[in-house]
Amino acid sequence: MSKTETVTLIDNSTGKQIELPILRPSNGTPTIDVRGLYKKMGYFTYDPGFLSTASCQSSITFLDGEEGILQYAGYPIEQLAEHSSFLETCYLLLDGELPNEQEFKQFSTIITCHTMLHEALKRFYSGFRRDGHPMAIMVGVVGALSAFYHDEINIHDPQDRMIAAHQLIAKMPTIAAWSYRYANGLPFTYPDNNLSYAENFLQMMFSMPTEPYKADPFYVKALDLIMILHADHEQNASTSTVRLTGSSEANPFAAVSAGIASLWGPAHGGANESVIRMLVDIVESDNDVQYYIDRAKDKSDRFRLMGFGHRIYKNYDPRARIIRKTCHDLLEHLNKEGKDNEYQELFDTAMELERIALKDDYFVSRNLYPNVDFYSGIILLAMGIPLNMFTVIFAMSRTVGWISHWNEMIQDPESRIGRPRQLYNGALPRDYVPLNKR
Ligand code: SDX
Repeated sequence: MSKTETVTLIDNSTGKQIELPILRPSNGTPTIDVRGLYKKMGYFTYDPGFLSTASCQSSITFLDGEEGILQYAGYPIEQLAEHSSFLETCYLLLDGELPNEQEFKQFSTIITCHTMLHEALKRFYSGFRRDGHPMAIMVGVVGALSAFYHDEINIHDPQDRMIAAHQLIAKMPTIAAWSYRYANGLPFTYPDNNLSYAENFLQMMFSMPTEPYKADPFYVKALDLIMILHADHEQNASTSTVRLTGSSEANPFAAVSAGIASLWGPAHGGANESVIRMLVDIVESDNDVQYYIDRAKDKSDRFRLMGFGHRIYKNYDPRARIIRKTCHDLLEHLNKEGKDNEYQELFDTAMELERIALKDDYFVSRNLYPNVDFYSGIILLAMGIPLNMFTVIFAMSRTVGWISHWNEMIQDPESRIGRPRQLYNGALPRDYVPLNKR
């Protein structure tokens, strides 16, 4: 990146000025390097929510919110969705290049051979209430992996970092499926090394020891696609959490556990669960869509249109467009198979909500479009995945994004412990007053 261009900052109160370098990216928005600002001018920058702040350099994922563009290592998400697989996408995000046949075979074998969990981890689940949210279990169990692998990893050794990445990518489906099995009083299932990543997860979720199980190929393909679309998304809240946690040199299992906790929030990864609850409420209110649109616009009402809006996308989220088509195709498949399809009504309601909102100036003027969470839940429901497992699926997919960013951060020479400052507006210095004098 070039540092020859600068911007001049003039302090009109003192006349002092500073030249701040402009850093040119390979693609996207240029940034002003403010690292010298405090030392030279005595100022912090103020940017709650980091709307205008680049926290790091990264080559993993590129977003253009205005144009609705998402690329993993330069490959458009639309092309990866059509031609790639989740496991190949994992390789791309970790390595930065698509694998050749030999590389992909080797990577797939490594992941397949790490899917088992230490048997002692089973006892960890039994400490949770059966009705505990699976995301609480995920935070606990993934964090507990530190107890099994912490001493074996030197985070400054690239090979150790890759082993940790492979362990997390491989074990997340087993951990996720076991959280479902435990919550439903079902026996823990084991990975089947003969199955693909998505198919293996579905068999660990739904197979029974009493009869043979074969996942519907349509569900396998839809789940693999959903995981490709959720794999990474630049410096979102949970990825930034993993980076900040990892910047203190905490081990990657603890850092990913922190990312899971951040993803759980309904403003972030928890939105897919909230979208379905909202759609069910609308259906049960005899489809009074306008009532919910009006509530979302009412500033005195905390209700927001879940699955709508995005910090970056001021255009249609490209993932939402792909998921909406997949949702339509899956429901058509269910109808053709004559399978029970109570989800069509949810899909029709979601489409109606989108149609009305995108004609309403409140949403149009604020560039609020459907995001990745708006339609994804309907697909997961149709596969028989319960509501409280939706964000677990998101976490299972996003683990590769988290660990890729963690790995990039650890090897970045400019990386240092994350420690933001603040704009202090508290009390000025004052003396302690004894209790009997207050
Ligand atoms: C994900 O960052 C990522 O990349 C995240 C993600 C990923 O892959 O990691 O893409 C995944 O988290 C998707 C987002 C899922 N969350 C939701 O669907 C929850 C509903 N959405 C909103 O909570 C909101 O849109 C956010 C949290 C997604 C974005 O919040 P911002 O950027 O802080 O938006 P904002 O609050 O500044 O909104 C600007 C205006 C405000 O109104 P005004 O103050 O201008 O009058 O838009 C309004 C907001 O009130 N607004 C909404 C709205 N989203 C924003 N109004 C009603 N319904 C909404 N959904």
